[in-house]
Amino acid sequence: MNSAKAPATTTEATEATEVTLRETRWQDLQRLADLESELFGPQAWSLASWWGELAARPRRAYVTAVRGGEIVGYAGVDRGGAVADVMTIAVTPAARGLGLGRRLLHRLVESAEPAEALLLEVRADNAAARALYDSEGFEVVTVRRRYYGEVDALVLRRHLGAAPGAAPGEAQVEAQR
Ligand SMILES: CC(C)(COP(=O)(O)OP(=O)(O)OC[C@H]1O[C@@H](n2cnc3c(N)ncnc32)[C@H](O)[C@@H]1OP(=O)(O)O)[C@@H](O)C(=O)NCCC(=O)NCCS
Repeated sequence: MNSAKAPATTTEATEATEVTLRETRWQDLQRLADLESELFGPQAWSLASWWGELAARPRRAYVTAVRGGEIVGYAGVDRGGAVADVMTIAVTPAARGLGLGRRLLHRLVESAEPAEALLLEVRADNAAARALYDSEGFEVVTVRRRYYGEVDALVLRRHLGAAPGAAPGEAQVEAQR
């Protein structure tokens, strides 16, 4: 006979569904390397690359998104100069479409400041990512023809800071939730 599980308490249910952003840890790296392979295939970062990225802190800043004890997303930025670069941003398929990609991007913007601008590179055929970046005020500055085999790479740029027309920063977004 199956024994019915006791219903989860509100706290347990919240912990299972809520996504927490925290600084990336050394212990995350094997899982992040595995996720990279699943999400980016031949362009995935190896475990050794991940070690190098974390070793490059504080110039690099990485954030891991966790839900119910599982890693469901991650993102990183290279900062320290007038222009910062998005190194990576990804959400696992099961956690997509829930606002996590945007939340991770806002965290990167926050980490990049006081840089004047944030750059990133995206495949021209990556519709989801392009829609996200477009809605966050990124504009195309360079097209690298056939950078990914048959597919172009787009270099996008967004102004940071309080200039008119700048997209909202993390503080404003948090306040909207
Ligand atoms: C790109 C990615 C990070 C988006 O993550 P996400 O958590 O699903 O994104 P969000 O739920 O925060 O959505 C933010 C916006 O992205 C756009 N978007 C997300 N999924 C989309 C889809 N399937 N089609 C079109 N636009 C989409 C929308 O503009 C959306 O805003 P809206 O919800 O107000 O319409 C995710 O698809 C991903 O990890 N892809 C694989 C890795 C990758 O391509 N990384 C980017 C490399 S440059």
